[in-house]
Amino acid sequence: MAIIIDGKELARKTRENLKIDCQNLKEKGIVPKLAVIMVGDNPASKVYVKNKSRACEDVGIEYEEFLLDEKTTQKELIDLIHKLNDRKDVTGILLQSPIPAGLDINEAFREIYYKKDVDGFHPVNVGKLSIGQDTFISCTPYGVMKMFEEYNIDLTGKNVVIIGRSNIVGKPLIQCCLNKNATVTVCHSKTQNIEEYTKKADIVIVAIGKAKFLKADMVKDGVVIIDVGINRGEDGKLCGDVDFENVSKKASYITPVPGGVGPMTIAMLMNNVIKAAKNFF
Ligand code: GUN
Repeated sequence: MAIIIDGKELARKTRENLKIDCQNLKEKGIVPKLAVIMVGDNPASKVYVKNKSRACEDVGIEYEEFLLDEKTTQKELIDLIHKLNDRKDVTGILLQSPIPAGLDINEAFREIYYKKDVDGFHPVNVGKLSIGQDTFISCTPYGVMKMFEEYNIDLTGKNVVIIGRSNIVGKPLIQCCLNKNATVTVCHSKTQNIEEYTKKADIVIVAIGKAKFLKADMVKDGVVIIDVGINRGEDGKLCGDVDFENVSKKASYITPVPGGVGPMTIAMLMNNVIKAAKNFF
């Protein structure tokens, strides 16, 4: 039976440390403040944003929300971003995705001042990550790397297979794992015979959004499994992209869903907001 990587506990510890950092900044007259922009009425986004605001409150970070109408134009969105870029009291900006079709999210991400880009989505920050420079790292990949660190899982020379190639998770993970000297393979929806890759992997990171996709016969004994998925299973319960019940019998380490990567994502957002506030002044 695998060791369960306790993301909830690591996130709690991370947030406790960030509370101290936040307090220290405030004593120096620096008040971290996150501005969150949400466009339209996406129910999942509302839940995510609520969790982010709660985490800010917990850590002591100031928080301001901008809820824009479904009919917002690209210009109105960009104007708001520019205003927030210029505001001295706002140290971090997050545009919640998705935004309504017809708006260009990539342009919007590009317009966020890269030193306030706590999501790590700005091309400058993506580029800095790709050449191994200190930068804002996208929160989910960053949380995954912190889990490896906490559990002393050394990536040097390991075969890491990432399933999923999104800009938010899969692609930044490639760089993060390369920076830790892993040999990285990326599989995705068009990859043929995924199991040929996963069977050879020392570490599998799954982020494709398919409930219980990774089965026990697709991995080797002792594999480390990181499950980024959040899905509803046929039984209506939350589950990841991994068949946890069976894969956990073969793995050496595994993250659960819920209580694995999810809480770490928010903790690393808080980390990035504090980092932005430190850098800003
Ligand atoms: N939507 C889903 N995940 C994320 C995230 O990490 N950041 C933003 N801005 N939007 C998201």
